[in-house]
This record gives sequence, structure tokens and C-alpha cells, in this order.
Amino acid sequence: MTAVDLGLPRVPSTRGSFSAPGRPDDPALIDTFGRVATDLRVSLTDKCNLRCTYCMPAEGLPWLPSEQVLTDEELLRLLRIAVERLGITDIRLTGGEPLLRPGLEGLVAEIAALRPRPRLSMTTNGIGLAKRAAALASAGLDRINVSLDTVDRETFRRLTRRDRLSHVLAGLAAARDAGLAPVKVNAVLLRGTNDQEAVPLLRYCLDHGYHLRFIEQMPLDAQHGWNRADMITAEEILGLLRAEFDLTPSPARRGGAPAERWLVDGGPAEVGVIASVTRPFCAACERTRLTADGAIRSCLFSNDETDLRALVRAGARDEEVADAWRATMWGKLAGHEINEAGFAQPIRPMSAIGG
Ligand code: 5AD
Ligand code: SF4
Repeated sequence: MTAVDLGLPRVPSTRGSFSAPGRPDDPALIDTFGRVATDLRVSLTDKCNLRCTYCMPAEGLPWLPSEQVLTDEELLRLLRIAVERLGITDIRLTGGEPLLRPGLEGLVAEIAALRPRPRLSMTTNGIGLAKRAAALASAGLDRINVSLDTVDRETFRRLTRRDRLSHVLAGLAAARDAGLAPVKVNAVLLRGTNDQEAVPLLRYCLDHGYHLRFIEQMPLDAQHGWNRADMITAEEILGLLRAEFDLTPSPARRGGAPAERWLVDGGPAEVGVIASVTRPFCAACERTRLTADGAIRSCLFSNDETDLRALVRAGARDEEVADAWRATMWGKLAGHEINEAGFAQPIRPMSAIGG
């Protein structure tokens, strides 16, 4: 729904303490570039039980103190506001590792009970999923993405610093058996660590009916160790795959989805490549993000956030919370600027924002 233009001078909204000068009186999460955010990524915890080298140091990170993490009640209230007032149609649960959130199945059931019912998905590392996939599906989870960067046990152990490959593979199979279809696999390739794994990963996913997507590594690691020269680009990934497979562009519509899709050996199987750095898709971005401690970010790479937890704990009304969220998204920048001179990595690492 867009505000009707009566040809009158626009009066900046002054409701609440989060006015956004020039913003039309539209309930949706619009921004100044004409985008509308309908896809909410929620980090349920910043904790993780793996230690992927491109994400965290071996000793882990100083986790958020529990009193700073949104309670279930606070979280559900924010999600209800998002769905009822802000036009959010898709909710993705992320972390850290979302399976580490106590009472996850109950949360999923409550989110699935919101109206209009959002599509509900989760991005997980798959540890412990084998035992929980069926319960999550019956609680209302629709789809799942499992992060898996290699199907070689020793490479997995080196990359994640944990010997858990078999747990993840069992989790994937359980997700498929539970009907969380299509099961998607996200892979990040690191030069000298798992770049030899592109072909075996694709073969494994084709054999098991999982949809594989490679993601270019972005500068979001806690150690700030990302460097452009080391990054394996989408072009390079396609080159690695073409050594073994015939890839042709998929006719599927891309819309706001970040993956460029390719038919493998004529299809119907596909592989996706997400060129977040070399071919940014920010102009089509439909995302808004909520961190585990209740901050709204208009982008993974935002330098500022809006603390909704403080508003909620101060007793703000639903419409005040909604307005603060709208004002934050109105301030969303055109793009991530990774490729601009002077780019500064966000202070929060990926594990504390949510993928
Ligand atoms: N660049 C790209 N993807 C990343 N992920 C984690 N860190 C990065 C990064 N720096 C991926 C994980 C997981 C998802 C949450 O994001 O592999 O699939
Ligand atoms: Fe959207 Fe930010 Fe990602 Fe660009 S970098 S696609 S603006 S979330």
C-alpha cells in the first residue's frame, strides 16, 4: 500500500522519536531508492558450536550477555509487529547457530502462527539437525539452508576446527526426509583450504537432491582477515565447476534472490553462485535484519543500527516500534561499498548479525 499523493506539501512525520524527514506515510519498509524490505533475517543467538576459520577465532568470541539477548516474548512481539504492520512476508532464522537457541521448536510454532503467516526458513550449520528436523518441520518450518563448505572429513575438521562432518551430512538427510524441501546447501570457498572441493561438493549435492549455492566470501569475519586477492570470485568458481560440468544459464526468474542460477549438464539440477562482492545485487535487496540483542540493521554492512530492545524495554507502543524500524530502513544506503575506496568493515562480525 502506498500513500495517496494529494499534491499537498509533505509534512515530515514527527511521530515517536524516530522521525524520518521526507518519508512518505507508507506502512511498509520502504527506502529512498525505491526498494521495499519484505524479507526479515533474525539472529536468534550469536553463539556457535563450530569455529569456521573465516568467521571466528579458535577460542570463539565474547558472547552477548544473556540479559542483552531478546527474550522469546520480546522477539515474538517484534516479529508480530513486522508481519502485522510492516509487510514482512518472509522470516529467516539465523545465528550464530540458531539450533543453539533454547526452545527453538516452540518459537518456530509461534512464528508460524502469526497472521498473515510468513514463509519461515532457517540457515544452520546442521549440527544436531538430524534429531530435530522432523520436529522443526511439524512446528511450521518451511525450508532450510545448511552451511557446508566441504564433503571431505579432514578438510571439514581443518576449516571448522571440529570433527563433525558426519553430523552435518546426517542433518541434511533428515531435513530432506522431513520435507524441508528444497534443502539448500551454502558453501564458501577459501583459497588453499577448500578450493579443491567445488566439484566434489556439487557432485554430492546432485547425488542427494540438495540445491548447492556458492557464496563469495565477504569481509565479515571477526578477525578482519578478509583480503580481496584471496577471495575466490564467482567467475573462478564457475571455472572450477566447468572443468567437470556443463553449465548453462537457468531460465528461472531471479527477482530479489541473490543467486545466479545455472543448469548443470542440461538440468533439471541447478547450481547457484552468489557474487556478493564482484556483482553486488544491492539494487534488488529486499532484506531487513534483527540481531539477537534487538538491533535493526538495514544492511549486513550498516555502520549504524537502531536499538529496538531499548524501546521495547522502555514500554514503547507497537506503532512507535514500527516507526523506529521504518525510519531505520528509510536510511538504508544504496549498496555495501565493499568495492569503494575507504570501505570499512562493520564492527559486528557476521556471527553477531546473522547471515
Ligand atoms: N562471507 C560469505 N558468507 C559467509 N558466511 C559466513 N561468513 C561469511 C562471509 N564472510 C556464510 C556461512 C553460512 C551463512 C550464514 O553465511 O557459510 O552459510
Ligand atoms: Fe542488501 Fe546490504 Fe546485502 Fe546489499 S549488502 S544485498 S544492501 S543486505
